[in-house]
Amino acid sequence: MKTVVITGSARGLGLELAKVFRKNNLNVVISDLNEENLIKAYDELLKIESKAKVICVVCNVTNVIDIQNLITLTVDTFDKIDIWINNAGVNQPNQAIWELSEGEIDLILDVDLKGTIMCSNLVMKEMLKKHSGAIYNVEGYGSNDAKMLGLSLYGTSKRAITYFTDALALEAKEKQTGVIIGKLSPGIMITDFITNALGDKEKIILSDKTKKVYNILGDYLDVIASFLVNKILKNTKNGIRIEWLTNRKAAWRFMTAAFNKRDFFKDK
Ligand SMILES: NC(=O)c1ccc[n+]([C@@H]2O[C@H](COP(=O)([O-])OP(=O)(O)OC[C@H]3O[C@@H](n4cnc5c(N)ncnc54)[C@H](O)[C@@H]3O)[C@@H](O)[C@H]2O)c1
Repeated sequence: MKTVVITGSARGLGLELAKVFRKNNLNVVISDLNEENLIKAYDELLKIESKAKVICVVCNVTNVIDIQNLITLTVDTFDKIDIWINNAGVNQPNQAIWELSEGEIDLILDVDLKGTIMCSNLVMKEMLKKHSGAIYNVEGYGSNDAKMLGLSLYGTSKRAITYFTDALALEAKEKQTGVIIGKLSPGIMITDFITNALGDKEKIILSDKTKKVYNILGDYLDVIASFLVNKILKNTKNGIRIEWLTNRKAAWRFMTAAFNKRDFFKDK
């Protein structure tokens, strides 16, 4: 039975991925710095019928001891880690770069960029022992070099995630590690992430124009998570990019926008 570890999986995309992996009978390790949400997520996962096990571990990805503890507990429980997904992330306040404080800049880069780097660094050492495993990093706005006022620092970190993941894939191949590396591009999901900045410390007010675009391009979490998990489970290639919202799909969505019935904001 395979084992998957997902960071930042007490809610949102991480939790949805965990649900689909559990339905596919993988042992699931959810982890998050928010203990209260983590316990709720654990209870939710237990309600899903599965032949596999689920455990939850509190882990702040900005803390190396927490990350190592998550790795050690997983290996002690399930013997090895087959899939690791670097999903934990925080959004930035809708502000220009010079309007952000040093503390805010540190938090965004520490979680969104350094968190993924340190998790990859430590889990790679573990996967090397078995000469197998897969690490997937979650891309986001900016990964493709797009720029927008109010998303520049988040975009900086996600652009770096894309470079980092490509570089890690190259190193994994050249050093014949047996580990495969991939990128997940989930598109737009109306999670708490969209309206909360800095790990829920601040609200983000969305304009009507932004909401309209999100309704056109956005998708339901379960649809995106099922798509990503199916691709991950089939993948054996190093350097893959699994993308939900392709340019083609986005163009089609705009062309058919007049018929769009999705309204993610009606209850918000
Ligand atoms: N929502 C979107 O439209 C969107 C689009 C593209 C990419 N993404 C990316 O997808 C990932 C998940 O986003 P989401 O929309 O599910 O967000 P979310 O806010 O719903 O979930 C993020 C989770 O990460 C956790 N987290 C935050 N800081 C952490 C830390 N230091 N250590 C451990 N956990 C931490 C939070 O507690 C939360 O449970 C993020 O990497 C995000 O950048 C989101």
